[in-house]
Amino acid sequence: MRILALESSCDETAAAVVEDGRTVLSSVVASQVEEHRLYGGVVPEIASRRHCEAVCGVTRQALEQANMRLEEVDALAVTCAPGLIGALLVGVNFAKGLALAARKPLVPVHHLRAHIAANYITSPGLKPPFLCLVVSGGHSHIIQVEDYTRLRVLGRTRDDAAGEAFDKAARAMGMAYPGGIEMDKAAEQGDPLAFPLPHPTVDGSPYDFSFSGLKTAVINLLHNAAQKGESLSVPDLSASFRKAVVDCLVKNFVRAAQDTGAETLVIAGGVSANSLLRRRLEEECASHGWRFCRPDLSLCGDNAAMVGAQAYFEYQAGFLAGMSLNACAAMDIAQQPALQGL
Ligand code: KG4
Ligand code: ZN
Repeated sequence: MRILALESSCDETAAAVVEDGRTVLSSVVASQVEEHRLYGGVVPEIASRRHCEAVCGVTRQALEQANMRLEEVDALAVTCAPGLIGALLVGVNFAKGLALAARKPLVPVHHLRAHIAANYITSPGLKPPFLCLVVSGGHSHIIQVEDYTRLRVLGRTRDDAAGEAFDKAARAMGMAYPGGIEMDKAAEQGDPLAFPLPHPTVDGSPYDFSFSGLKTAVINLLHNAAQKGESLSVPDLSASFRKAVVDCLVKNFVRAAQDTGAETLVIAGGVSANSLLRRRLEEECASHGWRFCRPDLSLCGDNAAMVGAQAYFEYQAGFLAGMSLNACAAMDIAQQPALQGL
């Protein structure tokens, strides 16, 4: 089954054709990051306008690269939640139009479920159940993936997401948006023990995260140094901050794996590209005898191939949308987008 999938939840307009949830026939991503960089973060109205401009061309390219015509795809899929509402609406309405015109079924996809599904592409043998750490610019969750479409949240951030904390701390250090990748690179040259930083925990909730205090600690260090006319080593501060975030993520994830008796650990989302997180989890999984899966670097950030992958399993489970499908800015990952409003 070949699905034409669209993604427009944030600042990437993407289209892809994916076969049977695992094989990518084409994947096109038009990033707006250069424009948002001027403002230090995503400007929602600009994002919506750029999606409107890019969505037709990106979809056409995805079909061309897959060597297919619209009539030949078996279904359409689109990210409908969560994300920037104006941005999501562009993809949802475009997909509804295509589905109606071509008389194809339409599969609504939750953005975080799609991030997890990037692993079905990279690791073709991966099947639920498994435990997944989903870390992106807007979310940090520990998820029990019981089945392809049955997911349970075990832990979540109480304030900033891991990617958001990386971006804000990086910005305070003078790095351009989104600073997560640049900080990861700078950290490779620094001493992770140079600055002792807090490792916040959430009382009574061992799987929950809290990153805003850690981010504030870095910003305070930078302000205090500036007031004294001193400058801090960016590589050392990056390495110390990255270590603190990764320590918190790994500690809770490992504990959740031990408590639930998980055999396979998976990571997903933009922050799953972080080199220290990947190394540390590889080591932990090897020492505990767990299988470890992570997406190919090209599939960690937002793309439509992951949407097409998840859509296949949603379709198999019968979760289709009609022309009343709406976009939703906030939606729990355990919720089924096809059932919204019922
Ligand atoms: O999943 P994603 O592309 O978009 C959302 O759904 O939010 O995640 C983007 C986030 C940004 O915060 C970005 O800085 C972060 O992922 N990121 C990284 C790395 N690469 C991307 N954070 C830390 N280390 C990286 N190597
Ligand atoms: Zn994302």
